[in-house]
Amino acid sequence: MSQLQKGILITFEGIDGSGKSTVAKAVVERLRNDYDVLLTTEPTSSWMGDIVRKAIASDVDSLAELFLFVADHAEHIARVIKPALDEGKIVISDRYSDSRYAYQGATLAGRFEDPIGWVKRIHAGWTIPPDLTFLLLVSPSVALSRCNTRQKTTKFEDIEFMKKVQANFLKLAGEEPARFVKIDAEKDLHVMEEEVMSKIQEYIRAKI
Ligand code: TMP
Repeated sequence: MSQLQKGILITFEGIDGSGKSTVAKAVVERLRNDYDVLLTTEPTSSWMGDIVRKAIASDVDSLAELFLFVADHAEHIARVIKPALDEGKIVISDRYSDSRYAYQGATLAGRFEDPIGWVKRIHAGWTIPPDLTFLLLVSPSVALSRCNTRQKTTKFEDIEFMKKVQANFLKLAGEEPARFVKIDAEKDLHVMEEEVMSKIQEYIRAKI
């Protein structure tokens, strides 16, 4: 088992139905052969994450909803992310702060002049930015049809909303091309898995 001097934080992002959770799980299984890996999610599996899920399922005010997501993120960093990185682990998070910038950047459009910038500023100074972010890109209509065939649904599964969120994700990726790796998520799972694995290995080689 290889031990990294300092951990690596890798995040998976994309609209609902992009398949990021499936790819993240497959990649984690492979990385576990060589590294100490932690797979985690946002919203988290803690009671705070449960509150976030309750908020998403209700008609909560969009600003209140943002702050619940942000509280869950703060707890996630303090209890899970930072300790694991300090132990030299590879931390893989299925959604992270870019989900807030993209989704709440869309729900808060009209309330602030620059909603993405505003949401980003709330995170400044305490969040831990990811080392690498895989953005899974799929057309919103394909994503929606995938969402409709599974049981779990959220209010964010609306085609017009998904288009706005995807545009926000692409904007974020354009601003930080060194961190973001765009993946065509309409490809076969194994092809995506190979692409992601080779990028991670490349990143680790460059870091060591
Ligand atoms: P999940 O389906 O990946 O568990 O995420 C739950 C929903 O919450 C999904 O529609 C994306 C949304 N979400 C946000 O709106 N903001 C966030 O910060 C996060 C982490 C998720």
